[in-house]
This record gives sequence, structure tokens and C-alpha cells, in this order.
Amino acid sequence: MNFPPDFVWGVATSAYQIEGAATEDGRGPSIWDSFCRVPGAIADASDGSQACEHYQRWAQDLDLVADLGVDAYRFSVSWPRVRPTGSGAWNSKGLDFYERLVDGLLARGIKPYLTLNHWDLPQALQDQGGWAQRDTVHRFVEYAQGVQALLGDRLSSITTHNEPWVIAMLGHDSGIFAPGLKRRATAMQVSHHLLLSHGLALQALRADGSRCELGIVLNLSPVQPASASPADVQKASLEDGMLLRWYMDPLFHARYPQDVLEHLGADAPQVRAGDMEAMATPMDFLGLNYYTRAVVSAEGPWDVKRGGRELTEMGWEVYPEGLTQLLLRLHQDYRLPPMYVTENGGAFKDQLSQGRVADAARTRYLTQHIAAVQEAMRQGVCMAGYMVWSLLDNFEWASGYDKRFGIVHVDYDTQQRTLKDSGRWYRDFLQRQRAAR
Ligand code: NOJ
Repeated sequence: MNFPPDFVWGVATSAYQIEGAATEDGRGPSIWDSFCRVPGAIADASDGSQACEHYQRWAQDLDLVADLGVDAYRFSVSWPRVRPTGSGAWNSKGLDFYERLVDGLLARGIKPYLTLNHWDLPQALQDQGGWAQRDTVHRFVEYAQGVQALLGDRLSSITTHNEPWVIAMLGHDSGIFAPGLKRRATAMQVSHHLLLSHGLALQALRADGSRCELGIVLNLSPVQPASASPADVQKASLEDGMLLRWYMDPLFHARYPQDVLEHLGADAPQVRAGDMEAMATPMDFLGLNYYTRAVVSAEGPWDVKRGGRELTEMGWEVYPEGLTQLLLRLHQDYRLPPMYVTENGGAFKDQLSQGRVADAARTRYLTQHIAAVQEAMRQGVCMAGYMVWSLLDNFEWASGYDKRFGIVHVDYDTQQRTLKDSGRWYRDFLQRQRAAR
């Protein structure tokens, strides 16, 4: 495989999933701290209060990142760590942590890719209505400006939101993620406020003289009908509308898709004059998190076993050609800035034995998906980079610690890190890429 010399290779994490130190140095509570206390919300009844203790072990973790030989590290800032109630006073100790982290990356020759919102909204803002409340849009813009004022001179990239569909739908419609609400109209209003805050933040960051690449990260999949029956095809098209076009159309065409608006009826969000234009503020990049395809049947949930594919521990099909299909489709339907795969990876049954994790399935997964990116590029799609999810095994949200996505194994009793075979493979692969530059 041969990628252009400036193609950015990376690994990714997020604050709540790895940092721990939930009450240290003045961090305020987030909606995930609260949600984890709801009985039954998290599969193993765990939470992120300790996680990988990255707040204490960050230097050692950055050494691991450096040893991999990646160009970039994608991480997120915990909003309640730097501004504990989401408004009012900033927490200098929290800000110091991210300053150490960013300086630590630069000292190791790694580009910092920062995400502002990887789901951990300050609980104090949730108490006032959270993302359903329009004021939160303005609090987010202030937060973005504060972070850029401190770190912007050293960052390569700022992402506003990670996976707004997940925040809106899993957080406010199905309620399986924080804040655990179950109301379609609320979910759609939340999606509107996320998109609006994204656009307004970009405008504010640029007005402040931003020198970073600015964009958003979406979780997208090709949505395929289970059969050619009109009912399945129609349902798949609506699902594609909810998942992909609901975000891509406002970001690139300044409008919501008409079919989805009609389907939503009274659950459609309230939109004020100027909102749609703000959302479509030009971006420097688009990030995509890709894990699997979606198959939709009008008869109810589709049984993934019918696909005949290997399944990951999440029960997700290994479907690399879906990534090529998705990239080509986006390239065809939208005028895009350069795209990154900002997350890609899998949870597999890992066994640590004698200091080694022989995770051939993960290596195969990564190889196939990197090849799928290359195939899209060969067909003319402009790709800027690829990042593995994740550097470390970590707190996999409602699934707890049982599902491991890392290319580095974490023993949660001792906090010992062990590079898995997939990590060794990625390191060697990157070395070959560099040699070919
Ligand atoms: C997407 C999310 O951004 C990340 O936090 C999560 O761990 C992975 N997908 C795997 O589910």
C-alpha cells in the first residue's frame, strides 16, 4: 500500500474514556458521571472515574504514541475539567493538564488533533436543559474560544463535535447513552443545536484568528436495504436520511432533507432565521468514524448473522467495502473538504498471555479498512488521514470495560500497558510508509 507523503496517520482516544480523575483538581461532574450511576445503564456497572488513569499517566501514554511512529494524536478535552459548570469560572488546573499534554505531544513530534465535545457535557448545563436548550449553543462557543485562546497556537486541528447523531439519538431518543432521555422531538432539537453550535464556533474561532484546521466528526455508514422490496428500500432511504443526510445536508447545502422533515412532522426542530446558513459555515476538513454498514428491514431489526460476515465483539459486521462505498458516495453527493477517517477499529476477544496479545483479527480488520481507504483514493476521493480507534483499551460507554478496542492492552488492576500484536503491526506498517515517502 502506498499513501501520499503528507497523509496523516494517527491514533485516537477521548477524555472520559481514558482520563479517570473524575473529581481531581477541580473537575466538575459531567452527564456521563451521572448516567453511570443509573442502575443498569452500564453493562458491567462501571464508570469512567478511574478508567486508564491517563490524567496521571499521560506522559507514559504519549511515549507509547511516539513509539508507534504516528503523525497525529486525536484526543478530546473534558469540558467540565476546564470549565466545571460549563459557564462561569475556568479551572486553571484543568487547563494546565491539556497544556502539558499538547506540549508533550509537540516535544515528541506528534501533531495534536483536539476534539472539543466527545460527549461529556458539564452536568450543570444539563440541569438547565443541556443540548436541548439554545443557551448551551452559546456556552459551547465560549468554551471553544477559551480552549483555542490557550492552545490554538500549538494545535493542528480542532473538531467541534464527535458524532452528533450519537449524542442526539442515543442520548435523547433511545436513551441508552447519557443523558438517557427518550423523546424524539428533544433528540432532533439537540441535533439542531449541535449543528448550530458547530457553525457558530467555527465563525468565532476564525474571528479570533484561528490557525487550526476546523471541522466536525460524523459517524456514518452506508445504509442498505435487507432486500429489494419497496418497503425495505423505503425504510433504508429514511434511515440514510436520519443518519447521514440529516447532518451532511445542513453542513454542505444549508438545508435539512425534506423527506426526513416530513417524516418527523411535529418532532422536527425549531429553526430560527440564520441558523441554516450558520451551520453551513465552510469547514477545513470532515472527519468520519467508520465501523460497519447498516442493514435495514421493514420487518424489524435485521439479524447481522444473515450477512455471513465475521462479527466483532460489539456484534458489528466486518464490512470494509462499506468504507469505500461511503467515501465514494459522499464524494459524489457533496462538495467536500479533505476527509479523515478519524476512527476505525474493532473490539475483539483479546487474551493477554505471557506479555503478548495475539490479536490477528484486529490486524486483519485494520489492514482491510486501510486498503478500503486507499481504494476510495484511487477512485478520486480526497483523503487527508486515517486514525485507529483506539490507542488504549478504555471505557466503552454503556458497554463498560469488557469491550476492548485498543491496540495497546490495559490491565485495569495494575494499569500496565502492553502493545498488542496489532499495535506492532501498525508501527511496522507506518515505518514502511515513512520509508516510501
Ligand atoms: C465512536 C466513539 O466516538 C468512541 O467514543 C467509541 O468508543 C467508538 N465509537 C467505539 O464504539
